[in-house]
Amino acid sequence: MSISEMDFRPAVRPTPRSVRSLRDRRDELTTRVALGNRDAVARQHGLGKRTARERLELLLDEGSFVELEMFRRGTTGAHTDGVVAGSGTVDGRRIFVYAQDFTISGGSLGAAHAEKIHKVMDLAVATGSPIVSVNDSGGARIQEGVMALHGYGGIFRRQVEASGIVPQIAVVLGPCAGGAAYSPALADFTFMVRDTAQMYLTGPDVVAAVSGERVTHNQLGGADVHGSLSGVASFVHDDEESCLADVRYLLSLLPANNMEPPPAYPHPAGDELRPALPDLVPVEPNQPYDIRGVIAEVVDDGDFLEVHEDWAGNVVCALARLGGEVVGIVGNQPLVLAGVLDTAASQKAARFVRFCDAFGIPLVTLVDVPGFLPGTDQEYGGAIRHGAKLLYAYCEASVPRVQVILRKAYGGAYIVMDSRSIGCDLSLAWPTNEIAVMGAEAAVNVVHRKELAASADPDELRATLIAAYSEELVHPYYAAERGLVDDVIDPAQTRAAVLRGLAMLRDKRRRAPARKHGNVPL
Ligand code: HXC
Repeated sequence: MSISEMDFRPAVRPTPRSVRSLRDRRDELTTRVALGNRDAVARQHGLGKRTARERLELLLDEGSFVELEMFRRGTTGAHTDGVVAGSGTVDGRRIFVYAQDFTISGGSLGAAHAEKIHKVMDLAVATGSPIVSVNDSGGARIQEGVMALHGYGGIFRRQVEASGIVPQIAVVLGPCAGGAAYSPALADFTFMVRDTAQMYLTGPDVVAAVSGERVTHNQLGGADVHGSLSGVASFVHDDEESCLADVRYLLSLLPANNMEPPPAYPHPAGDELRPALPDLVPVEPNQPYDIRGVIAEVVDDGDFLEVHEDWAGNVVCALARLGGEVVGIVGNQPLVLAGVLDTAASQKAARFVRFCDAFGIPLVTLVDVPGFLPGTDQEYGGAIRHGAKLLYAYCEASVPRVQVILRKAYGGAYIVMDSRSIGCDLSLAWPTNEIAVMGAEAAVNVVHRKELAASADPDELRATLIAAYSEELVHPYYAAERGLVDDVIDPAQTRAAVLRGLAMLRDKRRRAPARKHGNVPL
């Protein structure tokens, strides 16, 4: 039959293009958007967890979410894949975000899921916006085999490429097992919620099979384990609501990218004098006190966000505002282990210093350190290697750096805590400062060992020698007279002096010769 012989008349009257057909299509769209697995949602709620979309509602400004690839389907058999991805605002500032949806195949990650994540990560870097990931997933989608692993690799590579360019925040609100745990580990900050979030490389069954050790999911990788023992979690919360509220708070303290300053707010002048400050710190160098009280007195409105609050408490790292501008505070904590530096404290402070430096956040270091924690545990655990990280991080930091020595600063720990020799721009000291190779008593015991052993009254001799040593070598103006301290200040003037120092250093630039990268001791 030729074309001309064909009967082109329709067999039935065609559906006219009409308002009704458009309505049908809109209805279908609405149905697809509303699709969801009700049983899985009820189960998620029963576990005390919210759905991916409910979490995004808590995280983002109302009505700001722009979703990407909502209808993209992978191998789950569901109407969409197990991740909700897109962009939104927090306090009016743009971020990119993805939230894994445990109600669809356990939030497991296959190729389509991974590509949605890759897309928002690429857009975050292209637009200079922070990335927030909300993790709740059974890991690699087993049915997709190596393609799932390939998808993870693409996330990790993008995280490393974006590191130091845009802030990365990982929020873990469910399982995050196997290699998937490397994604929060590569982020700048990781949040976890107690009871519902777990991270581990191998689960309890594998642990039992390999070593016979029986542990629960939470004992192996719960929020408290990572918040206080491993240091993997920077922040731990009791519930998703307070967790996501703190993610918003953290974002308010961070720049959008490494080319922009962190958001500053005008802070009225007039509260620079802090008369309570001198009474917070006992004069005797070995008396404990809470450095957080000092930080609260120095920063704006007594408000600061402590990172790793429950891990390595002997050093405190916090983001805060001073005169409205964001600063990073590192302070020894005499309340925990007398404020010594150990392996964990060195790692914690080093990572914090590097983060602040990468994102142009000035550093204020409050020093009250008796030295390094002695012992085989520490030496075998790599205390030298970890201490070197902190040293390296400070030496490398090109942001404005202000050091305030409150009381003691002994030995190598004095050098490491942002001393003049490793590049602090401004060193201030209280009249209670004692900067020395070691404390007076220890010094006398070493230097005068033979005389003390031969003395009829070693205690009296020791007291005399300690007084003489202190008078000669550790008096509060010793370092200032030699140019290692710029000024000895009234403690009540600390806030004012730091504010003046930061204003002086505001436009600091340092150009280092080109190199591929340094070899930080890892
Ligand atoms: C495919 C998965 C899945 C996965 C869960 N599901 N994990 N589907 N691939 N990895 C599905 C389940 O079959 C189930 O589907 C639904 O998600 C909910 O899971 P449940 O087991 O019912 O939930 P729950 O009891 O809460 O247990 C959660 C869980 C458990 C602890 C995460 O699902 C689990 O152990 N999953 C496997 C974890 C795992 O081994 N992942 C691979 C790790 S290797 P239905 O249809 O029944 O609702 C890996 C390598 C990454 O991730 C490497 C990157 C470099």
